[in-house]
Amino acid sequence: MTVKVGIIGAGGMAEYHIAGFRAAGAEVVAVADLNVEAAKALTSKLDIPEVYSSLTEMAAKSSVDAVSIITPNKFHKMLAVEALNAGKHVFCEKPPALNAEETAEMKCACESADKILMFNFNNRARPESYAMMKYIENGDVGKINSAQAVWTRRTGIPGFGGWFTNKALSGGGPVIDLLHMIDLALYFMQYPEPAYVMAQTFSDFIDNKDFKGPWGIPDVADGVMDVEAACTGFVTFKDGQVLSLRNSWAEMIKREEVSVTFQGTKAGGMVQRLFGIDGMDDTSIDSCELYVQENGNSVNKSIIVEQDESMGRVRSATNFIKAIEGEEKPLNTIDQAIKLMKIVDAIYKSAKTGEPVKID
Ligand SMILES: NC(=O)c1ccc[n+]([C@@H]2O[C@H](COP(=O)([O-])OP(=O)(O)OC[C@H]3O[C@@H](n4cnc5c(N)ncnc54)[C@H](O)[C@@H]3O)[C@@H](O)[C@H]2O)c1
Repeated sequence: MTVKVGIIGAGGMAEYHIAGFRAAGAEVVAVADLNVEAAKALTSKLDIPEVYSSLTEMAAKSSVDAVSIITPNKFHKMLAVEALNAGKHVFCEKPPALNAEETAEMKCACESADKILMFNFNNRARPESYAMMKYIENGDVGKINSAQAVWTRRTGIPGFGGWFTNKALSGGGPVIDLLHMIDLALYFMQYPEPAYVMAQTFSDFIDNKDFKGPWGIPDVADGVMDVEAACTGFVTFKDGQVLSLRNSWAEMIKREEVSVTFQGTKAGGMVQRLFGIDGMDDTSIDSCELYVQENGNSVNKSIIVEQDESMGRVRSATNFIKAIEGEEKPLNTIDQAIKLMKIVDAIYKSAKTGEPVKID
């Protein structure tokens, strides 16, 4: 049976989701957006029959089996719970919610509904991540003792005063917005149990338009800008593994870097994208490498994969449909999302208190 999908939020990511759902053979039948004009523009561009002004209206009138939530972060939990309660499978953009408590509420709704709830941790669906995971699952890397997660931007504030820079609507700045590399490092490390987190955040430049990104949402005059612009943190795990992290929208670095590097007991490795001047251009470099000692030599292995400019966004949506159909294992679970959000909560708490934060 063909899975019928409805899109909630006609923002920038919707086209990737739709391409991924269609690639899996699903039918995208409806778009709902509080801004009905935005929903209409998307449906007419991509030939989708139904338009609604809310999830509630869509759930009442449409025959969708699944919904894709692509709204500002504050609405993720509320919409996911409503959709699950209406008996729909849910694919929700990252971050899962504003914090771990909300994410746990989503888990309860998911269990009661007995439907699939997945998040768009699209970097797990990059060709590099699929390739690296094969080595990890095959035991070629051994135990990952330590990892470094980096998503740092030089001038990447995604709009001033809109929902991204308003903590009540977003949950925070680059820590929660660019949490992909923290998630990818944890995924490579097999999602160990976190023990302690220590972190510091910095808000220099958060209101400085010299640091505005080339993408994002329109600026809002007199809007709120109460989130961090950069963070450095350190996480320890109960079994001795450690993770260091750096996330930023604005700091004086050479270029935007998106990477996970790790040191295992059998091999080290790295998945890295160095962006160009303004997003992807001729100077961008993607790397996927393993570092081993072989026959008395230090050997660097470069894993060649197909290029995916979308960073797994299309493939990740395809995985959601295939997970519903039982054809693929879901790329992420709600328990992983809760663990990730506990780390995010602890990063913010540690930055506020200046103390290490214990995670139970
Ligand atoms: N995975 C990625 O690579 C990636 C990249 C960018 C954004 N995102 C995530 O996508 C989500 C949306 O970001 P965006 O940049 O598209 O935002 P956006 O502001 O451009 O678009 C959001 C849309 O949602 C609509 N909306 C808001 N509340 C709604 C509600 N309750 N019901 C229906 N529609 C509603 C708005 O009218 C708007 O059209 C965020 O959670 C963000 O973190 C993910």
